[in-house]
Amino acid sequence: MESQQTQEKKIIFSGIQPSGHLTLGNYIGALKNWLKLQYEYRCCFAVVDLHSLTVRQDPKELRRRCMEFLVQYLACGIDPKENLIFFQSHVHTHTELAWILNCYTYMGELGRMTQFKDKSAKHADNINAGLFDYPVLMAADILLYQTDLVPVGGDQKQHLELTRDIAIRFNNLYGETFKVPEPYIPEVGARIMSLQEPTKKMSKSDENPNAYIALLDSPDVIMKKIKRAVTDSDNEIKYAEGKDGINNLLSIYSSLTGEKISDVEAKFAGKGYGQFKTEVAEVVIESLKPIQERYKDLMNNQDYVKEVYTTSAEKALSISSKTLRKVYKKVGFVPKA
Ligand code: TYM
Repeated sequence: MESQQTQEKKIIFSGIQPSGHLTLGNYIGALKNWLKLQYEYRCCFAVVDLHSLTVRQDPKELRRRCMEFLVQYLACGIDPKENLIFFQSHVHTHTELAWILNCYTYMGELGRMTQFKDKSAKHADNINAGLFDYPVLMAADILLYQTDLVPVGGDQKQHLELTRDIAIRFNNLYGETFKVPEPYIPEVGARIMSLQEPTKKMSKSDENPNAYIALLDSPDVIMKKIKRAVTDSDNEIKYAEGKDGINNLLSIYSSLTGEKISDVEAKFAGKGYGQFKTEVAEVVIESLKPIQERYKDLMNNQDYVKEVYTTSAEKALSISSKTLRKVYKKVGFVPKA
């Protein structure tokens, strides 16, 4: 039986696609805020495996990665006693609501999504309908739980706006059905950049592993990647236009230590890039160390992990079915006997 307090908590939904490696960008942009908000809100955190099929995946590899992602959510400190942690494909209401919402979303809206444009340029040989329709499944993920808040990085803002538009459109047609969710985007670290091309965002599926820090990278690898990070020739540690590489390292440092960017600038005033990079790497290594230790333990405790995602999916199905039933009724389907 849920306590009165749990029932009154507002709802969060967020998810990460199990493609490539979970990165420092995902951690700073999303996971860190999940951790911050997890006791204040009732949270649903999914490994959005259905979304990852929009790009070709090797089945064996995908299964392994899905599990690793879920275990990393736990290793980062998401508490399964208070929150639901599950695989999107285990809760069939997501695809069912996505179908309905498809009928209330316009081709023009989907064609304007920058992520669709970027991904179709990157995967020109596989511009499938799923890639185009991707934001509608994301809207279904969110709207099914009557979500209040969606903690994400800056790149998901446009998808969130579309989700809100779809919810408002449906509510206007059929009366109050969906809660209209708000995005929650960090002030610093909403867009962690590639270490190799700091004008592009850090991406977990970058072909060049030196472009990202994976949460499971060893201390040596982290040190090497940060030391190799592309910067500039000014030798001034200052957040300024055109200094994308340094701005990125300052954001990483500030976000992980909680120190303001101006304080970090002051701390490193007059120091060289070499020393700055070493200290950024040390902060990253220290932040990831406890996560990596817990990850190892959890990977050896598969029964516990299975229990978490199975019970969470059952609860998620029960919560989301309420919304789906409401939607089916509103659009005019005959109720099941
Ligand atoms: P995905 O898997 O690309 O990224 C997961 C989360 O990490 C954030 N993020 C970043 N933040 C800062 N800097 C970066 N370089 C960076 N790269 C990624 C993303 O903003 C995101 O919060 N469509 C979503 C997954 C999704 C979802 C949802 C999210 C599906 N359904 C419902 C929220 C709610 C995506 O592809 O994220």
